[in-house]
Amino acid sequence: MKFAVLGTGIMGRGWITQCAISGHEVHCYDASPKTLAGVVGGCEKLAATVAKKFKLEGADFVANAMGNIRVHTEKTAFIDAAKGCDVFLEVIYEDLKLKCTVLAEYLPQLPESVIFWSNSSSLDIDPMAEAGGRPDRSIVTHGMNPVPLMPGVEVVPGAKTSAATIEFTRQTLLDMKKSPFLAPNIPGFWVNRLLVPQMLDAVRLLEQGKIKVEDGDLGLNTSVGHPQGTFKLHDFITAPTMLRVALQMYQATNDPRMYPPVTLIRMVKNGENGTSTGLGFYDWSDPRNPKPRDLSKYVIATAEDMLESCP
Ligand SMILES: NC(=O)c1ccc[n+]([C@@H]2O[C@H](COP(=O)([O-])OP(=O)(O)OC[C@H]3O[C@@H](n4cnc5c(N)ncnc54)[C@H](O)[C@@H]3O)[C@@H](O)[C@H]2O)c1
Repeated sequence: MKFAVLGTGIMGRGWITQCAISGHEVHCYDASPKTLAGVVGGCEKLAATVAKKFKLEGADFVANAMGNIRVHTEKTAFIDAAKGCDVFLEVIYEDLKLKCTVLAEYLPQLPESVIFWSNSSSLDIDPMAEAGGRPDRSIVTHGMNPVPLMPGVEVVPGAKTSAATIEFTRQTLLDMKKSPFLAPNIPGFWVNRLLVPQMLDAVRLLEQGKIKVEDGDLGLNTSVGHPQGTFKLHDFITAPTMLRVALQMYQATNDPRMYPPVTLIRMVKNGENGTSTGLGFYDWSDPRNPKPRDLSKYVIATAEDMLESCP
């Protein structure tokens, strides 16, 4: 099969690598030349990690996968290539307006047969499906980070998604050795509807001076089997993406728990994005041994302090 992937950031690279190691030809493009320049190296590294983890034939496995990747530096060349693809997958910023604008530009140029997948982690598929003009062939395939190592893929049909599109998507993902599961088209779907408010609550407790990064993550890891802990996961997702997801979910639900904590906003402003900038809740200077940071500067005030200063 052939895939066209729009957006080559963290998740785009995950999907490109996933398609490539599954033997599919994959075309990709990103509006940022800088991000695009790093895509080959990023996918190579990810493919090597997969080879190591699953004890696959290292060099050949990686070389074969890399041979399936076509990077386009021109938008028009990417669109031309996408015309011959089976699936068009968008992996751009979590912003409904932006996604709709971009889809309204790209999808009408592609043959009707192309199936549209969105990697959105929280957004309503219906406006995207309408913007692209092929609502029966549009569906969310929300992969987890890093895609080639995390089996789960949330499959979210829209109001007009056809049974054939759902079945095609499910089967294609199963063939890629993923574990697709159906989720509802509500803000955050299933996974982030539960996970995002919990992660934002964790940041609120940190800024209230109730919990430290190391205790919070150790507690979740050793008590409920959370593989990383909430703060480390935050750093992998990156602060700007968490901020966009929180804001979009807040707009869609009006639920105050989805409103981003001040600390998240400040971290984004300070460039403390997580793994992508080397500094977040952890210091990632040594990526194999991230160090929890002392974030007492982000403690706004404890309840005790505030009570004492009340007139
Ligand atoms: N980060 C995660 O852990 C995670 C997990 C699951 C799903 N997602 C979802 O995946 C999507 C992408 O997230 P990400 O973490 O990869 O973000 P990212 O910021 O790493 O990458 C997004 C990319 O989109 C590109 N882009 C933006 N506008 C564009 C346009 N008009 N045309 C072409 N390229 C454009 C940017 O240049 C950037 O490289 C979002 O919908 C997000 O919610 C993220």
